[in-house]
Amino acid sequence: MTKDSLETNNIVWHQASVNRQAIREQRGHKSAILWFTGLSGSGKSTLANAVNKELFRGGLSSYVLDGDNIRHGLCKDLGFSDLDRAENIRRIGEVSKLFLDAGIIVLTAFVSPFRADRDQARGLVDSSDFLEIYCAADLKACEERDPKGLYKKARAGIIKDFTGISSPYESPESPDLRLDTGKCNLDSCVELVIKKLSDLDII
Ligand code: ADX
Repeated sequence: MTKDSLETNNIVWHQASVNRQAIREQRGHKSAILWFTGLSGSGKSTLANAVNKELFRGGLSSYVLDGDNIRHGLCKDLGFSDLDRAENIRRIGEVSKLFLDAGIIVLTAFVSPFRADRDQARGLVDSSDFLEIYCAADLKACEERDPKGLYKKARAGIIKDFTGISSPYESPESPDLRLDTGKCNLDSCVELVIKKLSDLDII
């Protein structure tokens, strides 16, 4: 719906009485969207959860939105066609924007294979509030790990449209952070993310 059609439908934005700046001053840190992208099995969820644990230990407000988990609820009506993935990422972009507004550091762990969808999510907020973090483990590494046995099923044709096998993955061209999650160990990846947040004055 465009702004004009919202007005015609009598839907008017209600200004919040507690704003992001006030929350930031109370909590002592900024909010941000940390958008983890990469192939299935590239370590997005593991890394996002490990970073979240570190932020929690430091007393910061943060939350992980995880692809597999969100597909149990908010996005359980969606499959893996290009259109459904676009809708999945659109919803997560909007939800992340709400978290940003709530003063929370939100970590999203979605394959999000299409550049246009990721760019659209970034475009919903100030670009400085959105960090694209590329979990760059390659297909070979992810397929060797195959933690959920999905690559095996995809190769056997049991799962259709599987990212990296029968559906494309468009890697980020200039991510804010590129982590070689195929080789680099978890603790060093966590450190690099935390350092980035600190360099950018988010925490
Ligand atoms: S996305 O492409 O729309 O961003 P999302 O991150 O929500 O995907 O879900 C990906 C997870 O769903 C994978 O980690 C994997 O466990 C599971 N999955 C099931 N089918 C597929 C598929 N066809 N392609 C990719 N992942 C799939």
